[in-house]
Amino acid sequence: MTDWQRTRNCGELRITDVGSTVTLNGWVNRRRDLGQLIFVDLRDRSGLVQVVFDPEILGREQFSDAESLRSEYVISVQGEVAARPEANPNLATGEIEVRVSRLVILAEAETPPFHIDRADEVDEALRLKYRYLHLRSRELQETIALRHRITAAVRSFLNGQGFLEIETPMLIRSTPEGARDYVVPSRVHPGCFYALPQSPQLFKQLLMIAGFERYYQIARCFRDEDLRADRQPEFTQIDVEMSFVDRDDVMNTMEAMILHIFEEVMGIEIASPIPRLTYQEAMDRFGSDKPDTRFGMEIYDLTAELKGSSFRVFADTAASGGVIRGICVKGAAGFTRKQIDTLNEKAQDWGAKGLAWLALEEGQVRSPIAKFLSEEELAAIRRVCVAETGDLILIVAGAYDLVCSVLGRLRLDLGRDLGLIDEESFNLLWVVDWPLLVYDEEAGRYVAAHHPFTAPLDEDAHLLETDPGRVRAKAYDMVLNGVELGGGSIRISRRSLQERMFAALGFTMEEARRQFGYFLEAFEYGAPPHGGIAFGLDRLVMLLAKRPSIRDVIAFPKTVSASDLMVEAPAPISEAQLRELKINLKS
Ligand code: AMO
Ligand code: AMP
Repeated sequence: MTDWQRTRNCGELRITDVGSTVTLNGWVNRRRDLGQLIFVDLRDRSGLVQVVFDPEILGREQFSDAESLRSEYVISVQGEVAARPEANPNLATGEIEVRVSRLVILAEAETPPFHIDRADEVDEALRLKYRYLHLRSRELQETIALRHRITAAVRSFLNGQGFLEIETPMLIRSTPEGARDYVVPSRVHPGCFYALPQSPQLFKQLLMIAGFERYYQIARCFRDEDLRADRQPEFTQIDVEMSFVDRDDVMNTMEAMILHIFEEVMGIEIASPIPRLTYQEAMDRFGSDKPDTRFGMEIYDLTAELKGSSFRVFADTAASGGVIRGICVKGAAGFTRKQIDTLNEKAQDWGAKGLAWLALEEGQVRSPIAKFLSEEELAAIRRVCVAETGDLILIVAGAYDLVCSVLGRLRLDLGRDLGLIDEESFNLLWVVDWPLLVYDEEAGRYVAAHHPFTAPLDEDAHLLETDPGRVRAKAYDMVLNGVELGGGSIRISRRSLQERMFAALGFTMEEARRQFGYFLEAFEYGAPPHGGIAFGLDRLVMLLAKRPSIRDVIAFPKTVSASDLMVEAPAPISEAQLRELKINLKS
């Protein structure tokens, strides 16, 4: 029988426990020697508590063991809970300490490469190499626990709504479209490769055809794409699919799930229904398909007002079918020339030809283009942009997509720099009515904006052959604080419509069948109307934990170059393995 096992957790002891005898297990967070006394902050998952080693209580022999303690030793202590002469208000257990009467050293530890409490002072590469040490930190313990609570809330909500959790395979077949696949060579079938799933998309649709009606999975997905703060090569989706539904059914169920998570996990009530913006509105007003609506500074269209301007850039842009749009930066008329030049440089880096600006100063307008504008045009700019004296107006003229993107990015940068964003708030919205197809210049054809099985809006389907670019999709994205949290769609469940979709993508049905054969065949056997969505679990946790990167909410993440610095993956494999796989490497 072991005699060192804990009776209590470190972080839960309080003043009401004074007088009781407890056994605690944990790591030495920090040791302080005070002459005759040794103080240790003992850490377990629940938190920290101060334990005191006093030779009077412990005896000489055990006290010399206490003297050998170093950071990250694993120990068991038994002792009495006592009130501290002076409480530490920074610690939940700060009113008490444990006076140790027995010490067992369970494991010694090398000096760690960084102190657990000060991991952020060292290079990220070092933290990732010793990820298991960084994970001991309070911050990461909390985010990983939060992730667990979110996953649990998802499961309890969906289980309550009659969804079945079903696993789909990891070794699948590479499919065209989408991002680049990670592939796995087959030993049994030399020269053949599996692909790791970019998402369970086709399988979840097959589960609908198989009659499961409501499916979910906390699903691992793999995408070989360029990585960023909110992108990992392997990440997790809350993946959902439903049968006999239309768009509102999926959106309403998923909205309820997200609100349930907020309430259950964060104790935050979000007003419902959450706002819905069409893709067009999102682009027009915020210059982004994932608008951050925690602040205003919306984009206004000035094309009609300025198309006749004697400023050639404006007149020419309007004449050639472009747009003239602007944002009003409240109270920024005092920006220096240098500040404005910086904005101009950014705009040009992002592809704008230039940035026109008007500082509405008291009694005059400071602007390089004011001399080209009539009184009426100046008044119209003020009116349309709802501008007042003291504001700065920034205008970009050019092609629609470019103007949206440049003003959208300027808006975000200015919102951040001017402190307009309430970092405490959670701002959820849906973006709906996405384009079904986008023209890919490189491919010289239309490609699916979402994926080739997304259904068009009923009222737009007739345009598939005549004006494909204008067809809107039964697709929806949920956006949280300017981050794309999830996206999905109602799928095409009729063969005739699927054929027309493939034709719009430039495939014949025969070509499509070669690529998606088994999948299209399944539709011949009776597919229910169905649709679904997938949320990025890592992104959701990142936003709820207010962390800047999804690496902070994944236990063992990869670097931006898709490496695992701890296990040192990827890595070469042995000659024998290569031989077995019948793979020859070209140097
Ligand atoms: P989509 O490709 O939009 O849709 O992905 C859904 C959500 O997954 C998250 N996500 C990522 N998170 C971290 N790292 C990545 N590399 C990454 N890529 C995507 C995002 C995104 O909103 N099968 C469809 C869903 C459907 O139609 O039902 C799909 O995968 O938060
Ligand atoms: P220029 O005639 O090139 O000296 O430009 C005069 C002003 O118009 C400068 O402030 C430019 O940044 C701005 N400008 C030039 N092109 C554009 C454009 N496409 N949209 C908005 N402003 C522009």
